[in-house]
Amino acid sequence: MDNDKRFVTGLDVGTENIRAVIATVSKNGEIAIVGYNEGKSAGMRKGVPANLAGPAEAIDRTLGDAERMGGYDVRSAYISINGSTVISTHTEGMIAVGTIEHEINVEDLERVEDVAVTGRIPANRDVLDVIPLEYALDGQGGIKDPLGMSGARLEMRACVVSALTPNCENLKKVTATADVQAERLVPGVVAAAKAVLSERQKENGVAVVDLGAATTSVAIYEEGDLQYVGVIPAGSNNITNDLAIVLAIDPNLAEEIKTRFITGDFDTEKSPAIKVGREGKDERVFDRKEVETVVKARLDEIFTEVRKKLKSAKYDQRLPEGIILTGGGAKMRDIDLFAKKVLEASVKIGIPQNLNGVSESVEKPEFATAIGLALMAAEDGRHLTNPSKTSGKKPKTTKKPNFFKKIFSKF
Ligand SMILES: Nc1ncnc2c1ncn2[C@@H]1O[C@H](COP(=O)(O)OP(=O)(O)OP(=O)(O)O)[C@@H](O)[C@H]1O
Ligand SMILES: [Mg+2]
Repeated sequence: MDNDKRFVTGLDVGTENIRAVIATVSKNGEIAIVGYNEGKSAGMRKGVPANLAGPAEAIDRTLGDAERMGGYDVRSAYISINGSTVISTHTEGMIAVGTIEHEINVEDLERVEDVAVTGRIPANRDVLDVIPLEYALDGQGGIKDPLGMSGARLEMRACVVSALTPNCENLKKVTATADVQAERLVPGVVAAAKAVLSERQKENGVAVVDLGAATTSVAIYEEGDLQYVGVIPAGSNNITNDLAIVLAIDPNLAEEIKTRFITGDFDTEKSPAIKVGREGKDERVFDRKEVETVVKARLDEIFTEVRKKLKSAKYDQRLPEGIILTGGGAKMRDIDLFAKKVLEASVKIGIPQNLNGVSESVEKPEFATAIGLALMAAEDGRHLTNPSKTSGKKPKTTKKPNFFKKIFSKF
């Protein structure tokens, strides 16, 4: 690997799955994916760590293969944050900058941002991002970039993304336990939006809905900016659990029924029986109508909650580019058809595209978050890490044999 390239890593710490994407960024800014992997998660509840060792061990295990593939030892990464404590708040700030001839400079922008955030966000929350939505100079609004403009009074409207501090701290502890420094925490759905939305969609108005295992997150964009983010504490695993309870079956069997036999076009004629297992041996037969009723009820509940979020943000039926579905739950065939009925809006599946490198295997809705995190890291340019080859080194899991033993003994 030549030294002209730097490495960036996106790490999506999910409730059910961990996904890692390693990319290189060349001097001229070209991004290429060089390593990726997905593995089972552990110790996560509704998108947040329930203990340190479970997710840390899962991260360590999953990163190993991505590191070997990319030939790079990951020490830091952009990390997805999830859970219903992740919210957005609209705030305003105003400062006096001097005489009317004063030209707005970077310090003014920092000061007005400070005013817009300080005291507006409770002390028990970490600010993850501040998105300036609009500036006004001496009462004249609609300004996107006031740098260099003249005025005596500067106002700012912003969308502030925050999460409860313990949620952030515990996630950082989890990654640190896996020997990965969290460079930045980004709401999973915001990262997914980075991977699947075009600038035009963000300009016109669009929402991304990340249907995960235990959470469903919503991010709304308009005029190119993030306007809203919110997380619903229910996801595709709830469908599996409902099936397991109602049909009195093992969750693994319920998962098989959900992923192999259910499609979102519930009204179409299909064979009335769902058959799982080997005929004449361990075959089990389920009534399709009964199965579909359970799945439909839960999906209806989830998308009704999504619609409530759209309504609360004042974007219900007001998004010209419609809704883009990502996450593992979006892999259910024809789920867009079902979502369209509940949301009464156009719905498409979001698939990351136009990526360079070993990208084919990650151009899937469930990889949107990890890819978006890597893209954000590449753009932010904060990863000026020295390339270090993994070749010749032991895999990370065996690097510190006593380390995890020590942690596990605590639990
Ligand atoms: N083909 C499929 N049809 C229906 N559901 C599917 C399919 N494939 C995967 N899923 C579901 O997707 C979910 C996993 O999605 P994902 O990996 O995005 O979750 P996660 O990121 O770990 O969870 P969260 O974001 O809630 O923390 C599981 O509930 C799984 O059953
Ligand atoms: Mg997820």
